[in-house]
Amino acid sequence: MNNLIQQLPKTELHLHIEGTLEPDLLLELSKKHHVDLPYKSIDEIHAAYNFEDLQSFLDLYYLGASVLVDEDDFYQLMWRYLLKCKEQNIVHTEMMFDPQTHTDRGIPFATFMPGFVRAMDDAAQQWGQSSLLIMSFLRHLTEQEAIDTLAAAKPYLQHIEAVGLDSSELGNPPEKFVRVFEQAKSLALSCVAHAGEEGPADYIWQALKLLKVDRVDHGVRCVDDPKLLQTLAETQMPLTVCPLSNTKLCVFDDMKEHNILDLLAKDILVTVNSDDPSYFGGYLNENFEALQQALNLNQQQLIKLVKNGFTGSFLSEQQKAHWLGKIDKLV
Ligand code: HPA
Ligand code: ZN
Repeated sequence: MNNLIQQLPKTELHLHIEGTLEPDLLLELSKKHHVDLPYKSIDEIHAAYNFEDLQSFLDLYYLGASVLVDEDDFYQLMWRYLLKCKEQNIVHTEMMFDPQTHTDRGIPFATFMPGFVRAMDDAAQQWGQSSLLIMSFLRHLTEQEAIDTLAAAKPYLQHIEAVGLDSSELGNPPEKFVRVFEQAKSLALSCVAHAGEEGPADYIWQALKLLKVDRVDHGVRCVDDPKLLQTLAETQMPLTVCPLSNTKLCVFDDMKEHNILDLLAKDILVTVNSDDPSYFGGYLNENFEALQQALNLNQQQLIKLVKNGFTGSFLSEQQKAHWLGKIDKLV
């Protein structure tokens, strides 16, 4: 089974590039830029990554991102994750980045975008890596700040496929961001939003009805609302589920309690993703392996989850058909 997990061509649809910052690069960059961190060693960093909820993680995630300063830092961050995609046979990845985490520290789009795009171009050239970017707004900030961020992104829109919504969910519902999502749509951007990670099923309804998203990030709280489950199944709305993230952030106390296979059995288009792999203890293959160990994921379920990743992606219909056909030939 682990062989098959490795061999299958896969997508990743829910990945924060800032969440791929590994402890070694974090320490290296903190020295390079003289950023004072409360950690002296990789062991101390691992010990600190013990979270009780989303906010306790976000506090360390934003602290970690403070070592990303110049264009080469952003290149290195992106390059290392794309190498991981090659290693894990993730043939297509749709990566979120948080511009406000950088612009609020005085680091402009003109610094991080060229770093990201150069690494993506190099990976495309060297091994045909397919990748695209989703610009996420920080929902703990105001809608006006999101609107200003969209305006600042205008010179880079050819490199941005979609907008998203992340950070502290509770108390920051999707309805707060209706106008900026309307503006993004008018710029021909696709839309995704984190909803129903810690927040209630109603936030998922808001993401669907008010933000008119193409995909829901997490969405696991949909189980609380039978009508929502029915709608998600009927519309085949993709959910980008992140099992290791959900257990690390105590959305589920134990992987054995994770509901992804129940949602799959209800014909909901669930996909598997790593979210912030450096913080949550595993990349994509480790997420599949965790499901296999805790929930006895079988081959048929594995293949369906992997296929859902292609179906739920922003790839063209032709590209989707190409990869779905390849999977059928493999198994
Ligand atoms: N949820 C919300 N915001 C985030 C996450 C997450 O899992 N990861 C990075 N920003
Ligand atoms: Zn996320």
